[in-house]
Amino acid sequence: MSKTVLVTGGTGYIGSHTIVDLVENGYDVLSVDNNSRSSIGMLEGVEKITGKKIKNYKVDLCNFDETRAIFEENASLVGVIHFAAFKAVGESVEKPLLYFQNNMQSLMNVLQCIEEFGIPNFVFSSSCTVYGNPDQIPVTEETPRKQAESPYGLTKQMGEQIIEAFAASNKKTNSILLRYFNPAGAHDSALIGELPIDRPQNLTPVITQTAIGKIPQLTVFGNDYPTRDGSCIRDMIHVCDLAHAHTLALNYLIEEKNNFNCEIFNIGSGDGITVLESIKAFEETTGMKLNYTIGGRRPGDVIAIYANNDKARSALGWVPKYGIKEIMSSAWKWEQYIKHLPQHLSLPSKRLN
Ligand code: WQD
Repeated sequence: MSKTVLVTGGTGYIGSHTIVDLVENGYDVLSVDNNSRSSIGMLEGVEKITGKKIKNYKVDLCNFDETRAIFEENASLVGVIHFAAFKAVGESVEKPLLYFQNNMQSLMNVLQCIEEFGIPNFVFSSSCTVYGNPDQIPVTEETPRKQAESPYGLTKQMGEQIIEAFAASNKKTNSILLRYFNPAGAHDSALIGELPIDRPQNLTPVITQTAIGKIPQLTVFGNDYPTRDGSCIRDMIHVCDLAHAHTLALNYLIEEKNNFNCEIFNIGSGDGITVLESIKAFEETTGMKLNYTIGGRRPGDVIAIYANNDKARSALGWVPKYGIKEIMSSAWKWEQYIKHLPQHLSLPSKRLN
């Protein structure tokens, strides 16, 4: 049986880390990424780590014919892992139609090809954002989806519902939805990591860019929340732990351990940490003093969320290896490495669309 997996969004942050994990676990990998939000140079880092050159199809998955051609050329794929999507919460509020068109059209094209070519396994990049502001934490996979906090979150909720309906009508393909919490950190080689296109929105790259001087001062968006120190609570998950969850999810489907042909798993550390505690962890781990101030709340922020990850632990055999210290130390190591990256690894100076 083929061990070839197609990873969409393969030159992105989580995609590239997942390719490393897949290769290290015996899979052959193909990538498709139009590099509108990522750098093809990331696959150079993957090659340095794994010794494998990864082929990337520079295709916009919103173009059905070009997408279909990839499947026609690789009809014996054992699975598809779908990361490709826009994911900036703030941008999605400014440009909702861009997010609906890009994230949904690409998903639909991939699913149509999976159906036409009978690809047996599909893993979808979902997000804890589908829970909205949960009434109870930690959240389990049975926690109901609530009003999405942004158009980005709505694309993840719609994506899940589309795949659930697809699975109900197509018993030949088995799907898994992985709900990520807050991905952060970098591969310990510092050869791959997160490459925000312009000013980052997510906490960890803002921390490291503040520490290195790219951002003058970090603003903590609110310390008047009903939490232990007033700042929001999140579940930070190391990107390498997250990457390995994809390999285990694929193994689970290939070994036909699934009970249904569409299953959901929370992929979070299971630990809630506040924004201020994350900053403290960075300072303690790196010895750096971070220049930050307390500002007003950011609209759309969830007060507190973290995962009950029992299901992934028991069904997938997934056990997160890294904690906040490794997240912060690896993120800082990567931030210092980026300065030396060859020019061609640098991203487009502005979003291409
Ligand atoms: C975390 C906390 C901020 C920046 C989003 C998406 C999720 C996933 C990850 C894609 C919040 C605070 C942040 C700053 C701050 N998306 N913060 N100052 O919003 O939890 O999740 O990104 O992978 O689906 O919803 O992540 O890192 O933006 O914010 O105080 O400069 O850090 O207010 O409480 P978020 P985040």
